[in-house]
Amino acid sequence: SRVLRVALAGCGVVGGGVLTRLQADPRFEVVGVLVRDPGKARDVVLPPELTLSDPAALLAREPDVLVEAISDASTGLALIRAALARGIDVVSANKQAVGGDLAALTSLAETSGARLLYSASVGGGAPLIETVRRARAHAPVVRIEAVLNGTCNYILNRLADGRDFDEALIGAREAGFAEEDPSADLTGLDAAAKLAILAHEALDGGLSPDRIARETLAAEAVLPTGRVRQLARLDVRKNLAGVAFRAVDGDPLFADLPDEWNALRVTTGDGRVFTARGRGAGRVPTTESVWADLSELAG
Ligand code: HSE
Repeated sequence: SRVLRVALAGCGVVGGGVLTRLQADPRFEVVGVLVRDPGKARDVVLPPELTLSDPAALLAREPDVLVEAISDASTGLALIRAALARGIDVVSANKQAVGGDLAALTSLAETSGARLLYSASVGGGAPLIETVRRARAHAPVVRIEAVLNGTCNYILNRLADGRDFDEALIGAREAGFAEEDPSADLTGLDAAAKLAILAHEALDGGLSPDRIARETLAAEAVLPTGRVRQLARLDVRKNLAGVAFRAVDGDPLFADLPDEWNALRVTTGDGRVFTARGRGAGRVPTTESVWADLSELAG
């Protein structure tokens, strides 16, 4: 089969991991890498002739596939749209970009005949999107409960051990779990975008992220007692969606959750329950998930 020309947008935790894999795989040719700051020191080798800082220049290199792994929502969304409009397939890990209006992006992809894959945008290496699809194929989804943010989970685990909030946040950043701007993690924006993506898979109308209520994790936040998680919840019958801090003692799915893990419970109308758990944040699991999408495109 032919070599796939790949344009990579972003070279951080996820993009850097993907670049290293691409460089070692003869099925792919990297035609350009979009970065905000070409001079920045990196933990991966970025050939100067591939390094670009203008999104238009990236697509001008005529890729077959755009891998979009940047942290900024609006730049990411503009790039995804431009690529799809030109019939370029897109693999995105950018939940803020994808979660904003997945229905519109999906129909743009359908119109242009390009494919839009976004496994890495929710759940890292844990098959959360797949589990929601499986539940929906069985019966209408009535409830989703999930831990979708590794950074909050990491911090809540540290707080439970009596550790300091700021130190825990530094740890989550150093481990590559937190976003470049960790306020997206702490205010629930990250989890809300992911819940919107899951809702798109679960429901015909989807769910806009701005309809999802949120709570913020901060050093001075007053949390419930017991084992606390940042839980993203959607109740279809009650028409409620939110991201909030809840005690989950006695719930085996959520209570003993390792630092960067995500977990999901989907309930269908006939009372059946579908669950999934796994590593939801960090370079290795998220790169793996992008890689699964890329491999699907490579055939
Ligand atoms: N910042 C995200 C998290 C990364 O902490 O879960 C994975 O999407």
